[in-house]
Amino acid sequence: MERVYLDHAATTPPDPRVLEAVWTVLSRDWGNPSSIYLEGQRARRWLDEARARCARALGVSPSEIVFTSGGTESINAAIRGAALEQRDRGRGDHIVTSQVEHHAVLHTVERLEREGFRATFLPVDGEGRVDLAALEEAVGPETVLLSLMAANNEVGALQPVAEAAALARARNPRVLVHSDAVQAAGALDVSPDALGVDLLTLTAHKFYGPKGSGLLYVRGGAPWRAQMLGGGQERERRAGTENVAGAFGLAVAMELAWAERDERVAHCRHLRDRLLFELPERVPDTVVTGPADPAARLPNNFSCCFRDVEGESVLLALDMAEIAASSGSACTTGALEPSHVLTAMGVDADLAHASLRLSVGTGTTDAQIDYVLEQLPPIVERLRALAPGA
Ligand SMILES: Cc1ncc(COP(=O)(O)O)c(C=O)c1O
Repeated sequence: MERVYLDHAATTPPDPRVLEAVWTVLSRDWGNPSSIYLEGQRARRWLDEARARCARALGVSPSEIVFTSGGTESINAAIRGAALEQRDRGRGDHIVTSQVEHHAVLHTVERLEREGFRATFLPVDGEGRVDLAALEEAVGPETVLLSLMAANNEVGALQPVAEAAALARARNPRVLVHSDAVQAAGALDVSPDALGVDLLTLTAHKFYGPKGSGLLYVRGGAPWRAQMLGGGQERERRAGTENVAGAFGLAVAMELAWAERDERVAHCRHLRDRLLFELPERVPDTVVTGPADPAARLPNNFSCCFRDVEGESVLLALDMAEIAASSGSACTTGALEPSHVLTAMGVDADLAHASLRLSVGTGTTDAQIDYVLEQLPPIVERLRALAPGA
């Protein structure tokens, strides 16, 4: 059996059309876009084109796009840049986010708490959706920022970002709203207009683009300031020689993801629904995590916990069977702590240790899903038989 890659939420294989675009820029027009001579100007043209194309895809102005090194950098810049600037303008010192955000958000907000900010981490329901009543209660006159992910990376829960943004602004019109739309891009309309946000984070490697290339959208005029200081690149909003080929690869990947969205979503949804409905029938005591309604979760995400097995052991056994999967978030794989997302959802610690996430992609086939459905039941059965107390 060829390898079966079912961890598209961790990263996606680059699309050959994107690779070609990246290679063209990298090999032909490698100049520094800040240089005034021909080589520099040729590189500058690719960067300008990348910015124009990303802006068109998002329905925003090119001047509102800042290219970054990916999701983590965009999130750090969005949150710190907005919080610090708002506080300096005397608008308050309170940040609202959710308990199920990616660590890039949680750790950035925790750092700001150590720098004198106050933060509210909103609870979620048993399916991972944020509590809007708690949000309404949390936002006050001192709140400077709401950061809410568009979709969760572990359990696929879609968050009501537009609704949350409207509620927050009704309570305090000066609140800035950021969304980490890293997982949702390519699955939903993540344009700032649709989400109702002032700041938006995207990263190319989650939609078949290159790693190390992301963008931050900053609404024109929003009270925000740069975090990466140095040269005057990106109109003084992100210093450092630009990753021109990466930015162009991001633009091409984004255009393809947007243009092929319906087709990709239908393909993934069909395969994911097979996991969602067939796996619990084949493996007794499978607890599906995240929204029970398939339409309320990312179309490519399946996540569950198996009672009485270690998640890591399942992953190792799957790897030996040529299947790449994850226990939830790539970033916490290997950690002994149960996932903060499952904990926030009220999943007990024992069960949370036995979590599995299978995320399908454009290259996944029905035959691969058949294979996984055939391999998993005996793996879980064998591990359960070995479990202490079995
Ligand atoms: C929801 C979410 N936010 C942020 C990130 C970080 O993005 P990057 O890997 O580009 O730094 C990830 C990646 O795992 C993610 O899933």
